[in-house]
Amino acid sequence: MLFKGEKRRNIEQTDKEHLWHPLTQHQTALPPLPIKKAKGVYLWDSNGNKYIDGIASWYTAMYGHCHPKLTKAISKQAKKLDQVVFTGFTHQAATDLAEKLMQILPQNQKRLFFSDNGSTSVEVAIKMALQYHFNKGVKKETLIAFEDGFHGDTFGAMSVSGLSVYNGPFEEFFIRVERIPVPNKDNIEQVISKLQHLSETQDIAAFVYEPLIQGAAGMKMHDAALLDRVLAFCKQHTILCIADEVMTGFGKTGTHFASEQLSNQPDFICLSKALSAGMLPLALTSCTADVYEAFLSDELAKGFFHGHTYSANPLACAVASAAIDLLTSKSIQNSIRRIEKQHLQFVEELNANNKVSNARCKGVILAFELNKEMSRYGNKRNELYQFFMRQGVYLRPLGNTIYISAPYTCTTRQMNKIYDAVRAAIEL
Ligand SMILES: Cc1ncc(COP(=O)(O)O)c(C=O)c1O
Repeated sequence: MLFKGEKRRNIEQTDKEHLWHPLTQHQTALPPLPIKKAKGVYLWDSNGNKYIDGIASWYTAMYGHCHPKLTKAISKQAKKLDQVVFTGFTHQAATDLAEKLMQILPQNQKRLFFSDNGSTSVEVAIKMALQYHFNKGVKKETLIAFEDGFHGDTFGAMSVSGLSVYNGPFEEFFIRVERIPVPNKDNIEQVISKLQHLSETQDIAAFVYEPLIQGAAGMKMHDAALLDRVLAFCKQHTILCIADEVMTGFGKTGTHFASEQLSNQPDFICLSKALSAGMLPLALTSCTADVYEAFLSDELAKGFFHGHTYSANPLACAVASAAIDLLTSKSIQNSIRRIEKQHLQFVEELNANNKVSNARCKGVILAFELNKEMSRYGNKRNELYQFFMRQGVYLRPLGNTIYISAPYTCTTRQMNKIYDAVRAAIEL
């Protein structure tokens, strides 16, 4: 509320005075750019400049921003039921979403536990996996994870992520995790031997992994057949498999879920981001009937006593259902195929350029490394980021890794504009 004579202050002033942004060293960072509007693949800043959202706002807005079918789903639901406690109550927005998810998730996934962000979906899976063994009276307390994975910023999720210099103050509070390298054709036998050794010397409860693409590690891609060998080992040794599909879920790898491209299905799948299409915070952890049944008992304490106020928020569930309708529509599936094809051609072009290395793509995600030294949040990387913004393209390089993960609705012409900005950046 403004008092008489008081002027509305601009976004920059109030932001500078009161807001604390994620992943930011405020002492040295440039002030954040005010974004006023978003529509389709575009973001507009407060000066009227427009940017193609080349990373779909951290891979959430995969159907484009403010899609009319999604905004309509929210407003329709908002007139019926906005929020209700999900302990002791249920509602149709959640059951409709469950039915749609059951149609597209791998068949062994039978139960859905709602939360509201990707880190928490992983945290829930870790807690469920630990309690699964506990409920069965088995002592299994160690987790396995890939060396460079990223699973989020809560304690369990940080523990299973690759060690980061930014985790320093927290490391001594982490849960017990053994790290294995991501398998490739040269190290696969060593990876299996390490797993063998770990399973003989430690009580391994679960293995947490990003299937096929490690997002924050720099869109590192690995082979499905090799990951399948790791999963097969886990299955043989009652190590529960937790697929973190927070990034890969909902079409990005070309299939609805990356896990579909593997023979061994996980015991848990963690989902968020494109689940609610960038519209509202929503996450869920799905699991098998076997996991769920391990929590059924006359003993209250064997239940899963974890919950969030906004679990299964009806507005978020309604928009997630509408997003699945879009995902499974002919037009979005055709766009995914079109973008995959376009990316493959650009990858060929990039691989012929000696200023870049390891151009790769999977589904709608394309990435490569610039042959230049660049630290993750250093000046050179920041200059590159600013360069893209001046070209009207929002891309966020991860050190010297440049990646594209634009909305499925990005047209061939809009994708060419992103490629042109990338071509220009390579020549800098
Ligand atoms: C694979 C993966 N897991 C978990 C997370 C954490 O999700 P959130 O930022 O919603 O907590 C991310 C975020 O980028 C992610 O890429």
